[in-house]
Amino acid sequence: MKDYLQLLWTMIFGTALLSCTQNEERALTKPSIINIDLAQEGNEISEDLWGIFYEEINRSGDGGLYPEMIYNRAFEEKNIPHTLTYQDGVIKAPSKVDYESGRVKNWQTEFDVENKTDGWKLESNSEADASMKVVTASPLDPATPHSLLMDIQSNDGVKLVNGGFKGIAFTKGEKYDFLFYARPFAFTGPITASIVDTLGNVVATRAFDMSGNNEWDAYSFSFTSDVTNNALQLELTFGAAGQVCLDYISLLPQSTFMDRKGGLRKDIAQMLADLNPAFIRWPGGCVVEGCTMENRIKWWETIGPHITRKGEWDLWGYHNTYGFGYHEFLQLCEDVGASAMYVANAGVSCAARNGDYYEMDQMPEIVEQVLGSIEYAIGDVSTKWGAERAKNGHPEPFPLKYLEIGNENSGEIYAERYDMIYDAVREKYPDLEILNAHFFFTPEIPEYYTEEKIQMLDPHWYRDAEFFFANTQLFDTIPRGKFDIYAGEYACIQQGNMYGALSEAAFMTGMERNADIVKMASYAPLLENVNYRNWPTNLIHFKNDSVYGRSSYYVQKMFAENRPDVNLDTQLDWVFPEEKIIGGIGLESPSDLTIKDLIVDTEDDVDNASILSDENNWKVVKGTWTVNEEGLKAEAIPTLPQGQRAFDFEGDVTNSIHNEQIQAENLVMSFKVKRDSLFHGLKIKFGLKDDDHYFQINLFDPSWRWFPWLNANVENNPDLKLTASLQKAIKNSGGRFGRFGPATIDVGRFDKEFDFGMDKWYDIKVTVQGKLISLEVDGVSLGQIEYQRPQRQFAIAGYDKENGEVVVKVVNGEGTPFATQINLNNAANLEKTGEIIEMSAEEKDAENSFAEPMKVSPKTMAYDGFSSSFDMEFKPYSLTILKIKASK
Ligand code: AHR
Repeated sequence: MKDYLQLLWTMIFGTALLSCTQNEERALTKPSIINIDLAQEGNEISEDLWGIFYEEINRSGDGGLYPEMIYNRAFEEKNIPHTLTYQDGVIKAPSKVDYESGRVKNWQTEFDVENKTDGWKLESNSEADASMKVVTASPLDPATPHSLLMDIQSNDGVKLVNGGFKGIAFTKGEKYDFLFYARPFAFTGPITASIVDTLGNVVATRAFDMSGNNEWDAYSFSFTSDVTNNALQLELTFGAAGQVCLDYISLLPQSTFMDRKGGLRKDIAQMLADLNPAFIRWPGGCVVEGCTMENRIKWWETIGPHITRKGEWDLWGYHNTYGFGYHEFLQLCEDVGASAMYVANAGVSCAARNGDYYEMDQMPEIVEQVLGSIEYAIGDVSTKWGAERAKNGHPEPFPLKYLEIGNENSGEIYAERYDMIYDAVREKYPDLEILNAHFFFTPEIPEYYTEEKIQMLDPHWYRDAEFFFANTQLFDTIPRGKFDIYAGEYACIQQGNMYGALSEAAFMTGMERNADIVKMASYAPLLENVNYRNWPTNLIHFKNDSVYGRSSYYVQKMFAENRPDVNLDTQLDWVFPEEKIIGGIGLESPSDLTIKDLIVDTEDDVDNASILSDENNWKVVKGTWTVNEEGLKAEAIPTLPQGQRAFDFEGDVTNSIHNEQIQAENLVMSFKVKRDSLFHGLKIKFGLKDDDHYFQINLFDPSWRWFPWLNANVENNPDLKLTASLQKAIKNSGGRFGRFGPATIDVGRFDKEFDFGMDKWYDIKVTVQGKLISLEVDGVSLGQIEYQRPQRQFAIAGYDKENGEVVVKVVNGEGTPFATQINLNNAANLEKTGEIIEMSAEEKDAENSFAEPMKVSPKTMAYDGFSSSFDMEFKPYSLTILKIKASK
């Protein structure tokens, strides 16, 4: 069999030659020039440019910012979301048409409905001694219908234990407010609450005598801790046999942010305050939309006494008690000096989930709710919701400035509802700034919107580092005078590291330079309890006793703290680091196709035919490539159904094969290819250094289209012409959710389109001559592209009028120093001594951790070498801010 395969491999590959040269990237020899002209002011920079966005995801609220220490405190954790039904381990949304695609989604997700006592453990000497059960009879509050019925036959050794959110954390000398409700039935008590360490040592304890019978009563006490320990648990023991119902078992730190009773966790809220956010967006995100309309966040259910807040299943997979609700959000804004942005449901639910929506005749209800939310925040105390705010302790209005209508929405159904809400809000609150939640980045307002009702759009970017480095000019291209942009969610999606953070910094320079149109921006998501991660990359990590900001956190902080008033004209005469295209070859396709007669000609005397025909020189990197009598065959593995592959049309369902023995700088690679069924593209790789670093020609590159998955199916679109592009693949993130292999940068697109029919052999020829790459299909040239190394070094400058300072921000995303000469033209009274704020890392994947929370963080130092022209070398992998005193 082996011989047969060997023979076929030899048949498939023809003759060729090859030469070997070293892979290399040369260091720079002369500096890049940064020319800053103080006489040429650019765009004014909005005071609200840098803000934050909070969503209940990664358990950021309960057990985090809202510092409840008891997990599943009211036994509501397994409540099925409203209007969903449970069957066989999954919850299902009602069958309704999705507002974006017009299809019925039948959205469903796994759900552990049985585990209602999640987080609670009953310990006893024998099973017969005691049992626990979640019941609904005579609830403590109708909003939270469940409570725990303890049936104690023999109280000896019976313990009800809760370990909090992966451990309860106490700090020595701090006080903690313990509260619970009990309804005894012929149970005389007492109930003893103890905080116990892993060795069984009691850290704090209190016995509560039971009062009354068959009535709910509150029991409370403040524990003072003599220890610092993050692995404690709550134990309730029972002084007698009998039956008792328990509910709302809560433990909160007394010491909170701004010393508010029942307030926010101090260290986490302080991290938010330290970002100096100009605004805070709340509550989402997808949670605004809900997995169905009824699952959306209803702001009025999130205010008032916590015990009356019913909470709701959060579509990130757990119960949200709404401990951090609308009032707390508005209070936080006020406390940190930020404007509030409330995001209201637009009458449509999340299109990535069920996507159902309210008919227009149901919309008055939604409009009322939106108007109510505004009234609660800023209405007079004589109004219904203004009075409610006063009742909740805040008669003065809160700093609500922005209303966003929806989240990540688009399409006609959304547009109609948007208009309706917009009109009602505009009429009653003419000064409120209203945002449209159109999700996709678009240089034009889609025609289904009413143009005069669009002031600001909110596109989102969760991309890899190379995308952000490559798109610093994105906002320069948007036509002015139509709409402003709020980049409400953006982040380099990877596990998080300095390289990703620098790519965000690069993208942010593009936002700041275009501040006439980019008025606001916020990184997302903001918070992650590291024990409950739902989303791959988040700004601030915390656990029960500690918190740290990732490298991206310090990028956000540096930009927010050093925001000039106006941009200054900044020209970068950039010296490109040199890079050669040299290395192995490869092929990749998720489609059914066959390849034969592969020849690599390297214009020298290397026997490429032998290299190609030796099976051992080929590595199957993904999927399968089989050899048959026709040639080398890739077989498409069925992709996910249409609706589910919005983000993964390229999928990990691809077949890729590499040959690293071929090593050439200049080559001609030719072969024949036949499409056997649907065609989702063929990637022809060269300059391959390893499985994650190479160049590729993407024959039919859907990434050039807005919605590639809609028209990628060539079979259903026989007239569709194909296009090809040149891309560079670089390992860093692996795409949106880190699943698709290396990230690719689009280098250029071949001019001509081409046909690619079924069951016909096509001749493909790729020529690489230094940096010139050309492509032929069936003898017809599709064009030539000159590769230019992607830029990863950027500079912008602005002027801070109050401090009389030129503020220069320099990003160096390269692993080599960035040598520059900086010229400050038309600067008067320039002072030699100023300040440098520098954040750098030795490795591109450097990141902070609980053990080293400040490993990647900025250092501020005085500098006395500024002049109208000075040399400065910026460290590898660094973000640096220069603050130079000068007048204009
Ligand atoms: O930030 C996480 C999610 O990403 C948000 O909920 C949503 O708006 C986006 O898809």
